[in-house]
Amino acid sequence: MEMNIALLPGDGIGPEVIAQAVKVVNAVAKKFGHTIHFEEAPVGAAAIDLTGNPYPDETHEVCLRADAVLFGAIGDPKYDNDPKAKVRPEQGLLAMRKKLGLFANVRPTFTFPSLVHKSPLKLDRIEGVDLVFFRELTGGIYFGEPRGRNEQGTKAFDTNVYSKEEITRLARMGFEAAQKRRKLLTCVDKANVLATSRLWRETVQELAPEYPDVKVEYEFVDAVAMRLIQWPKAYDVLITENLFGDILTDEASVISGSMGLMPSASLGTDNKLFEPIHGSYPQAAGKDIANPLGTILSAAMMFEYAFDLREEAKAISDVVNKSLAEGIVTEDIAEGGKAYKTSEVGDWLAANI
Ligand code: IPM
Ligand code: MN
Repeated sequence: MEMNIALLPGDGIGPEVIAQAVKVVNAVAKKFGHTIHFEEAPVGAAAIDLTGNPYPDETHEVCLRADAVLFGAIGDPKYDNDPKAKVRPEQGLLAMRKKLGLFANVRPTFTFPSLVHKSPLKLDRIEGVDLVFFRELTGGIYFGEPRGRNEQGTKAFDTNVYSKEEITRLARMGFEAAQKRRKLLTCVDKANVLATSRLWRETVQELAPEYPDVKVEYEFVDAVAMRLIQWPKAYDVLITENLFGDILTDEASVISGSMGLMPSASLGTDNKLFEPIHGSYPQAAGKDIANPLGTILSAAMMFEYAFDLREEAKAISDVVNKSLAEGIVTEDIAEGGKAYKTSEVGDWLAANI
């Protein structure tokens, strides 16, 4: 197969982890006889420095031309400490999601046999956890208008908005995923307080009869926050709005032992983007110490979701498991033994594909 992949390394550790994913993707292409064309483009603080815009039109064109986008991370502390900054790197990520129509963010949480003991949670609670969030990604309080401040600057407001259509397309993806998995769907909302959540619940209730094989549970987000670490095996597929999904997926990453490990896919009707759930980790930028596995596993999701190449995806997850079992890992998950550099982990994985 011939594949065009847009590479958006972004900020902080983004370029280092993307470089490792490229090594692994190339090794997979060689092994399975695929031809891959990469096209790189700037995004985030890197793009602001070059063009003044965190998601330049040229970058958008590169994404539109590609079959899939592989994305690193966005964010730079020089903007975090300046709440008055006019342009922020994160705006690039949000603009990219919106303009590419990436309305569904698929974030799996699973455990690695060789790492379960690293989780701060008790072993019997997390062994064998296998759940997946479908986080709505282009709506809700992240994008709702009006937003901003009053004239005096003494009051600020954001607006949470959802249309039935936005809820329906995300929920359908969740139902379909549940049908292929353990057939349990949890709708996470705050329907006891929020009008938007009541529309979520009503919409999901209306769709449920179309998926009679899927059991649907409705749970308030605060209760999910608790049960997710108390008994995560209670969940299979969870669907939720943008902000709740942002928060809960960070929480869920603790189950797997390190945030550096978790991949995600952001899917739309026409475009697909793959990114680790971690941020730009500026303290580690350029030090060759960041964990590249979240990005490498995102590349595995790319083979599966963008090209329907499951064997290729499995080749990557298998070699990742092997590296974990053999301790070829970066310092965040190394114990006792030697910690490997980001680039060494990438080299090892590519050589072992
Ligand atoms: C994520 C990130 C982003 C989000 C930030 C960087 C805007 O936390 O992808 O989860 O809130 O969606
Ligand atoms: Mn987040």
